[in-house]
Amino acid sequence: MKILVLHGPNLNLLGRREPEVYGRATLSDVDDALRQRAEARGVELRIQQSNREGVLVEALHRAMGDGTEAVVLNAAAYTHTSVAVRDAVVGCGVPVIEVHLSNTAAREGFRKRSLIAPVVVGSIAGFGLDSYLLGLDAAIATVRNRS
Ligand code: DQA
Repeated sequence: MKILVLHGPNLNLLGRREPEVYGRATLSDVDDALRQRAEARGVELRIQQSNREGVLVEALHRAMGDGTEAVVLNAAAYTHTSVAVRDAVVGCGVPVIEVHLSNTAAREGFRKRSLIAPVVVGSIAGFGLDSYLLGLDAAIATVRNRS
């Protein structure tokens, strides 16, 4: 089973960026935990981070043609603004699980709306690093349930 994890803008700063909101784990810590979980589950994992909207869109396009069976997506700030990322989620036809470290529903008003949420399989938010691990398990379950 082939799964893509896609991290959006500013997530490269994890650990240093607003640790009271996002925790002290770095992006490498998150990726290491994901790789460990993927190995234990027998999943082939690809992980990509970009601060650029177009690169995230193109990563979703690539997933369409390279055998990726599910995507775990933290679109970060683009969650709340990007019609382009939303359209790529729909267009790629690959099931996407939305994840957030923080509980976006409990934060500023502009974070309560996700343009991505209506077009994904489901969303997980508020569990810090564990949001990604839960997202990976949800992606695996989605692929299994569809095959
Ligand atoms: C985030 C929440 C977003 O609102 C924010 O812009 C981020 C991170 C999260 O993981 O909690 O950059 O996606």
